Amino acid sequence: MKATAQANTNIALIKYWGKRDESKILPMNSSLSLTLNKFYTTTTVEFCTCLSVDVFIINNQLANEFEMSKVTRFLDRIREMAGKDFHAVVNSTNHVPTAAGFASSASGYAALAAAATKAIGLNLDQKALSQLARLGSGSACRSIYGGFVEWQKGIEDDGTDSFAQPLKGGKDWDLSVLSVLLTSKPKEISSSEGMKRAVETSSLYAHWLDTVEKDLLVAKEAIKNRDFDMLGSVVEANALKMHATTFASQPPFSYWNSATVEVIRGVKNLRSSGIQAYFTIDAGPNVKVLCQPKDEQVVREALIRIPGVQEIYHCQPGPGISYLSNSGKREIANIQSFRNRKVAK
Ligand code: PMV
Repeated sequence: MKATAQANTNIALIKYWGKRDESKILPMNSSLSLTLNKFYTTTTVEFCTCLSVDVFIINNQLANEFEMSKVTRFLDRIREMAGKDFHAVVNSTNHVPTAAGFASSASGYAALAAAATKAIGLNLDQKALSQLARLGSGSACRSIYGGFVEWQKGIEDDGTDSFAQPLKGGKDWDLSVLSVLLTSKPKEISSSEGMKRAVETSSLYAHWLDTVEKDLLVAKEAIKNRDFDMLGSVVEANALKMHATTFASQPPFSYWNSATVEVIRGVKNLRSSGIQAYFTIDAGPNVKVLCQPKDEQVVREALIRIPGVQEIYHCQPGPGISYLSNSGKREIANIQSFRNRKVAK
């Protein structure tokens, strides 16, 4: 009862920002992402009747209580689906540059959904996996697939029509995404908290909802026509609009730091000098810059000089989930020292 899966992170081009149902993680709007090749999570799950609690090991360390209880709740759903009540050892490794601050719950929950369902003997298709991953972290539903991925918000209360799908016509567009690392400190306001505050208090949230589906259509059209400027312009405008809702929330907040603003300026300067580069920013200060492969080096050289920029990682479109063959090693053997520890439920 053991399986290993791998999932890559994704960057939102048109953001998911706001939930219409907090517990089922149903979004207010549809969104669009690009799965990246560089950063991924590998997770092994082993269920065993010999365990009395779940154990979650992340990057070779026992997870803290908060993470442990989130994973246990997620496994509870899978146990219920399978009609089994075994506990599990979950051993997860984030393959991101050391302390890069790009670790993502998206790749984490996509890999966990795939590995845990396979280990317990459920044979879910990708749509069902996407729906399940969504319940761990909204953006995780998009990491089931590679390349450009659309998450349709759905309208049903039970969430059965809220899942991701690969975008038709999105294959094989050779884009570069430069991940600009400014800080690896954990953010003060989580994406969940931030979007909740924006939904409940931001005077700009209604405008966000009025315009985001149009942004999505423009982005899809740009991808279909391989129109890089059209895609970059709408991606950048959509990111700025999402962040504008944070400035207009009560109390106001921002995910940016001063270096974020300098990188935005740097990208705009590059454009003024004729280089097609566009930025986007998720719920944190780090910036992702979209450009064409031929411009990668020029963009890198301009941005790496900006004070506050620690590192730049070059990414390309990446794959969806994959299953890896298990090592002969029992995960249970890893956890002898943790066996009798209580885990927060
Ligand atoms: O999936 P979450 O709960 O981490 O939220 C992700 C929110 C954004 O990254 C800001 C946007 C997105 O679509 O990924």
